[in-house]
Amino acid sequence: MSSPSSTSLVPRISPSILASDFAHLADELGRIETADWAHVDVMDNHFVPNLTLGLPVVEALAAVSPVPLDCHLMIEDPDRWAADYAEAGAGSVTFHVEAAADPVATARSIRAAGARAAVAIKPDTAFAPYEELLGEVDMVLVMTVEPGFGGQSFMADQLAKVRAVREAVRRRGSEIWVQVDGGVSAETIGRCAEAGADVFVAGSAVYGADDVPAAIADLRDRARSHLCG
Ligand code: DX5
Ligand code: ZN
Repeated sequence: MSSPSSTSLVPRISPSILASDFAHLADELGRIETADWAHVDVMDNHFVPNLTLGLPVVEALAAVSPVPLDCHLMIEDPDRWAADYAEAGAGSVTFHVEAAADPVATARSIRAAGARAAVAIKPDTAFAPYEELLGEVDMVLVMTVEPGFGGQSFMADQLAKVRAVREAVRRRGSEIWVQVDGGVSAETIGRCAEAGADVFVAGSAVYGADDVPAAIADLRDRARSHLCG
């Protein structure tokens, strides 16, 4: 008999539009219609040393995207802003634990606005102090690069954290998704899946490919064959 803790994991691919052509974002979203989500990196030039896009652009993208938006907020004061991204039409809103003053209230505000709520953890941040947040979120994002830029090298030392998050989720018998973001490619996705990730952000590996739908299918197949299920 199966229990929630033995439910098979389903691989989900979330291409990051950070690696796409910002002059043609609607078209670039159209190229990933076979993906599960579209990952949108919101950077404020304070929490990370880079600046991308904000609420008005997310609202415009949500109106045309063929897949739901997975917004990754790399911003200060997410307590103030996170729910607005849900209201703008994002299907999932992720904020960093390092930036949030009250992560429980912020997660609840996202869910109250109708989106999935998620917390992100930077490479130098330990997961253990935040384990109690599992009762408040739908996904945990384990960063596999320092947030701020696409195209960086995968940090394999973060796989232990992926494993720890997945084990904590299993112990609770919960269905929380575990996402990895940064340097995820055909070469690294198998190790992420083996460690317990089930949602995979990939920027350069998708938008840098000659055949985008084929790259998405290949990543999904590789993840599926390594999932720790
Ligand atoms: C980095 C961003 C990532 C980035 C990933 O701060 O959070 O989503 O776009 O890009 P790749 O897949 O190229 O490492
Ligand atoms: Zn991201």
